[in-house]
Amino acid sequence: MNILLIGTGGREHALAWKIAQSPLLETLFIATGNGGTTELGVHADLDTTDHQAVVSFCNLKSVELVVVGPEAPLVDGLSDSLNQAEINVFGPSKNAAQLEGSKQFTKAVCDRMNIPTAVYGHFTNAADARAYVQQQGAPIVIKADGLAAGKGVTVAMYLDDALAAIDDCFEGAFGDAGAEVVVEQFLTGEEASMFFLCDGTTALPFGTAQDHKRVGDGDTGPNTGGMGAYSPAPVLDEAMQQRVINEIVNPTMIGMTRAGMPFQGVLYAGLMIDDQGPKLIEYNVRFGDPECQVLMMRLDSDLVPLLMACAKGDLAGQSADWSQDFALTVVMAALGYPGAYEKGSVIKGLELLDDNLIQVFHAGTASTNGVITATGGRVLGVTARGGSASQAHQRAYQAVARIDWPNGFCRSDIGWRAVARET
Ligand code: AMP
Ligand code: GLY
Repeated sequence: MNILLIGTGGREHALAWKIAQSPLLETLFIATGNGGTTELGVHADLDTTDHQAVVSFCNLKSVELVVVGPEAPLVDGLSDSLNQAEINVFGPSKNAAQLEGSKQFTKAVCDRMNIPTAVYGHFTNAADARAYVQQQGAPIVIKADGLAAGKGVTVAMYLDDALAAIDDCFEGAFGDAGAEVVVEQFLTGEEASMFFLCDGTTALPFGTAQDHKRVGDGDTGPNTGGMGAYSPAPVLDEAMQQRVINEIVNPTMIGMTRAGMPFQGVLYAGLMIDDQGPKLIEYNVRFGDPECQVLMMRLDSDLVPLLMACAKGDLAGQSADWSQDFALTVVMAALGYPGAYEKGSVIKGLELLDDNLIQVFHAGTASTNGVITATGGRVLGVTARGGSASQAHQRAYQAVARIDWPNGFCRSDIGWRAVARET
């Protein structure tokens, strides 16, 4: 079958790498891909905000399945347009994508279904939000309601920071996304993520991971899209995963169906685990990046039939096989990231890494006549497998050391929690 994959990041390189291994695949089209995906499929210069153009492309190229990587096209209703044209799509409808697109929407689902999450207030003006924060005190968490490219959340340790974050939101720092604000109780514990493939009714557990959001070693400095990740997440043992399923994800699936918005696609539960159990921090309606890279590295099953089963609503009875190995990704970013950075520097040495326990997934790169240049903030995801977290960590950093890219940097401690548990 022909498949169209939408997206340009490390997540999409990892998905393309896995899809390309499927015996079911004829041609993989990628809109628009990056320097790492050129050999895995045909790059299509499609404007994915133009839904009619995507539908026409699928009809012209006999595409049987569209896989949507990032959240923006989903929140924008691309899946609805494809469904109307009777083209199979992996990814939720516009309504169901509100699980990521609106914090208040998700909080309301949690209220209705009695799902454990942080206590919160929802505000449409600064005065009420400020009054609530004054009364609750710090630490406290301020969230712009809508999509804000990962920048809409302020974990405020002091009252002044919380009040400033509220003013930022209502003064338009995040555009329409900040017109409504959710103020949340500050949760403590260990953060981890759990992924589910969903077909509207069934939610198939699809791996666990932990990521490192801060730019600096020791989880310090400003937030980023993610500087590294590993899978599985030791804190999510079998019993804890079962609690996430029973207390959080199954009630969400039921709640969404009751609301007339059955959830289809990948549900990414961001969780806080403490001695009382799991609490939902947030949902995303797409794979995490770099989390997707470590998941694809560990997945033994063919991904294509699973994605198709989600799209067609027949996931019940399907299963996924995983390697017992750990997988760990070290993100290499352009110097300056997450602030201003330069583009266009040349990356060398990638061809020397031919070990099948290592994959370098590209994010912000371009390939011109075989020369790889950096075009983005997060540029490479150096991903390794190993029998333990320590082994995967060591292998990934050995690969990093062989990459010749003076304009890049990475953290030196990805996976520290999992490595520390082993020693
Ligand atoms: P988000 O952009 O929603 O993924 O949030 C970014 C990060 O903020 C999360 O990964 C958590 O580390 C942190 N965070 C969000 N909500 C809370 C909360 N209620 N308590 C503590 N930390 C939080
Ligand atoms: N790595 C975090 C995310 O994809 O949202």
